[in-house]
Amino acid sequence: MRLRRAPLEDWLRDYYFAAEIDISSSGVQPYSMAELRAKTGLDHNQIDALVFNDGYSLGAPAVRAAIAGRWGDGEPGKVMTTSGSSEAISLVLTALLRPGDEVVVVQPGYHLLVEFAVALGCTIRTWQLHADDGWNASPGELAELVTDRTRAIIVNFPQNPTGASIGEEDLRALVSHAERAGAYILWDAAFADLTYEAPALPDISTLYPRGISFGTFSKAFGLPGLRFGWCVAPPDVLAECVRVRDYTTLHVSPLIELLALRVLENADGFLRPRLKQARHNRDILKEWADANAGQVSLTLPAGGVAGVPRLDRLASTDDFCEQLFRRHGVLVVPGSCFGRPGHIRLGFGGATDELIRGLDRLGGMLRGSVPG
Ligand SMILES: Cc1ncc(COP(=O)(O)O)c(C=O)c1O
Repeated sequence: MRLRRAPLEDWLRDYYFAAEIDISSSGVQPYSMAELRAKTGLDHNQIDALVFNDGYSLGAPAVRAAIAGRWGDGEPGKVMTTSGSSEAISLVLTALLRPGDEVVVVQPGYHLLVEFAVALGCTIRTWQLHADDGWNASPGELAELVTDRTRAIIVNFPQNPTGASIGEEDLRALVSHAERAGAYILWDAAFADLTYEAPALPDISTLYPRGISFGTFSKAFGLPGLRFGWCVAPPDVLAECVRVRDYTTLHVSPLIELLALRVLENADGFLRPRLKQARHNRDILKEWADANAGQVSLTLPAGGVAGVPRLDRLASTDDFCEQLFRRHGVLVVPGSCFGRPGHIRLGFGGATDELIRGLDRLGGMLRGSVPG
């Protein structure tokens, strides 16, 4: 198996740690350990009581039960905990996909969801989202891509990088296309808890027997460095995932699962403040895009905390992003990392004052003069 390089990770590796102002990220403002302890009531004695035993292949029973209760159908046997959702996604794709399988993927999209299937030798059929159409994901187009050879439809709604999502009616249409083909639906639900115009969609695992969802603490929960994620999947698929894990990570650390359980028990205390902040920041982003009309075209994200404005006067934003970082300390992601060179990915989930300063400098550079 040969994986191609991931341009997004290359870019962030080079610039993320040195950025003065980060408006590139796809997650909300991260919490500190002190905030985690305050929100959960976890004290040092409880941490000290932890013994560093090996963990369970599928995850600690209490953690699996908490996830099944919140996102699944209450059945812990369908849950596996992982190191970020990246591990869950790579395990499930490895377990399910074989060379030559047809797989439908959404583009532009997060590299793992596409490139892992490419590296496994699958035949890729692209469900294309278009900027001119407001990144609208049309189930009509999907219908033409699904055949009786389709093994999996891989989606991520709300979506990275566009912030696009689908409604419940389109979700039902998606399920019926998958059902017709007997295909799995692999649903990256990283941003499921970050929606602005409609309530969160039901978890795919509760709607369709071959529906598999992936969750993470890295985006809506503000805990990317904790490296905690999961999938909700049929037990026979999880059994195959364990076979792969037996050769790779074995299990999630009991320390991570201790913290994860406390976060899950207090989930709304983590989610609500950051969703409120993201909603406010999204209004600021909209005002900024309106004020810069003629330079910037933006479809306002329906969910998540990232969007992809087009910089209307640039065919490629690569050099612009490099200069924005070097001269003004502001980090965004060039659209070329997502195959859209005239766009940038802009994250609005962080601290509000940082977003305002970052947008000021970005707007200033677009107009040829930078405030401050
Ligand atoms: C859509 C999407 N899925 C999955 C991931 C992987 O995140 P993690 O492994 O931190 O859960 C990311 C990270 O950026 C993402 O944007």
